[in-house]
Formats: sequence, structure tokens, C-alpha cells
Amino acid sequence: RRVVLLFGGRSSEHSISCATAGGVLGAIDRSRFEVIPVGITRDGAFVLEQDDPARFALDPASLPEVVDNGTRVSWPESAASRELRVTDGSGERSLGDVDVVFPILHGRFGEDGTVQGLLELVGLPYVGNGVLASAIGMDKHVTKTVLEGTGLEVAPWVTLTRAALAADPELWTRRVHSLGLPVFVKPSRAGSSVGVTKVADWAELDAALDVAFAEDRTVLVEQAVVGRELEVAVLGGRDGEAPRVSVAGEILVTGREFYDFEAKYLDVPGVELVCPAELGDGELFELQRVARRAFEGIGGEGLARVDVFLTDAGFVVNEVNTMPGFTPISMFPTCWLRSGLAYPELITELIEVGFA
Ligand code: DAL
Ligand code: MG
Repeated sequence: RRVVLLFGGRSSEHSISCATAGGVLGAIDRSRFEVIPVGITRDGAFVLEQDDPARFALDPASLPEVVDNGTRVSWPESAASRELRVTDGSGERSLGDVDVVFPILHGRFGEDGTVQGLLELVGLPYVGNGVLASAIGMDKHVTKTVLEGTGLEVAPWVTLTRAALAADPELWTRRVHSLGLPVFVKPSRAGSSVGVTKVADWAELDAALDVAFAEDRTVLVEQAVVGRELEVAVLGGRDGEAPRVSVAGEILVTGREFYDFEAKYLDVPGVELVCPAELGDGELFELQRVARRAFEGIGGEGLARVDVFLTDAGFVVNEVNTMPGFTPISMFPTCWLRSGLAYPELITELIEVGFA
């Protein structure tokens, strides 16, 4: 099978996607899959990349990046063709017919349904969530609205735009203050905690809003949930089977304000990942049920990582990540490893389900 690995992209999580690609390139079963690595530069150019896992290692000193090497990959001319072509210094040539595309893109222009829409248009099968689930999962306001509609608990929040704020500042201030401190201020569409600030004093709110509005025109102010921070991994079932849910991982924040970008990727102290999390049988069962409902609620396919809090009043869903971080040490593969599915087999499983 010929697999196009699509990574990088125009989002603020470009480098994280490259690190995910490095992990997959290093572990994918080469006896089953021929890989065509296609990088998307920060400007959105599709380039033929090197098939070299080491190039995309997650190095805190210099985060990996797709650079414009002058090549251009073009998608099939019509939905009747599966042929990918590349233009480089020596002209144009075929890369052969593609069986499936594996878009390991995080954030906007990749995890949000746009690339999925492109692949639908050109008629190429792809791994993971479809257009709608990706679009819902990318947008925190829409995710929470949909999850609430399925009867799941989400943290109380207020959604803001600059225009709404300007039109009636008193109303919005009153609504935001009614959440109580502390709150999290988040861009509606971003990931890896980019643009997120924890606010413990209302005097810090405006600065936090500026940071979030720099990422998106819609911003959420969310009540901070008191509880344990848990994550589970979901794999879509084959042939109409129910999705499978892994054991849970737990994020123990000991010496930081919250699980921010640095804690996620830069190996700073103050955060510990524990997998499997210590939960009673009943708790794990209930958590898996909640995750399945969240996944099905957004119309999930293929995979997701569902992030939840365990509070005194039960589970509160934080978000559904439709293309979770996927380096070998990320929570998604770790949860599957602890559930009996190793990283290379997990990649095979994802591609096979995507192809089915
Ligand atoms: N958005 C990052 C990659 C995650 O959810 O893991
Ligand atoms: Mg996320």
C-alpha cells in the first residue's frame, strides 16, 4: 500500500505535526507500507519531503519544520485518478498511485476539516476524522455546544468576539465575572495550549484576551475545573463496530500553573504523565463510556483523544482532539501501548481502518 504522510501545515502547531511525522516515519511497518512524505510549509506549499525520521525529532532547542525545498506535489487531476505528481528541478514526474493519505496535521488548515475536504474533492481515501467531525473538534465553542447537546457535562464558559465585546461591554463583563475565578482564556480554534492563559485576577483578563484574539477571532473564557485531568484514546471501529477506548492517562501538574505548551513538548519539570491512571473499575468504565459518547457525539471516525476532568460531581469533558499528538511518547500512543497495542501496530491499525 502506498501511503502519503501529510504533515507540517499552516497552523501554530506546525512543528508538533512535524514531530508527529518523525515518530510515524520511524515506526511505520515498511513491509506493508510505502511512504511518500509530503510536507506543507507554513505558507501552505506542498513539498516532497525526505523520508528521514531524524530530521523531524522533537528537539526543544530547534523545533522541526518543513522548509520550502522548491519541489511541488500536486494532487490528482480528477476524482477518477489517484496519481500524485511532483515537480522539481529536473521537471515533472509521477509519484505513483496513492492508496491512502494519512494527514497528521494539528490545528487549523489540517485538523479542522479543510484538508479533509480537499481529499474528499479529489477522491482520495484518508485516515481519521471526516470534514464535519474535524471542524467540530477544532472549534472549542462548537465542541462544547455539541457535547452539551448530547447530555455530557462541560465546564461553564462564555464565548466572545471583539464585536460583541465592543457592542455591550457591561453585559459581557458581567457574564464573564459570573464564572468566578480562576478562568482559562482560550482561542476557540487552536491546540497545544497555544494562546491559552490562566487568569486568577480580573486585572489580567484584558491581556489574556489579547493573547487569545491573536490566534482566533472567537475566544472562550472558561471556568477552571477542579478535578483530576485525564485523557483517553479512541480508535474508530471497523465495519460499523463500536469505537474502542483505551485505558486512561493522567496529567499530574505539580510545579506549573497548568499543562501548557512548554510542559507538553519542551520537557520542562512540573508535569508528570501517568499511564494507566489509578482509577477504580467503575470509574474507568464510566470514563470510557463518556469518551465513546463524546466521540460519537461529534461524529468521530478513525481516532481521537478525549480530554476530561474527574470532579467530585463526575466527569466533565474538556475537549475532543481529532488528530492528537502522536510522537512515540505522546499520550495517545502511550494509552494504546498500556492497552496492549504497540506504536507500530497502532499506525497499521489506523491506516487499515482509514482504508477500509
Ligand atoms: N493538539 C495537540 C497536538 C494534541 O491535542 O495532542
Ligand atoms: Mg487540543
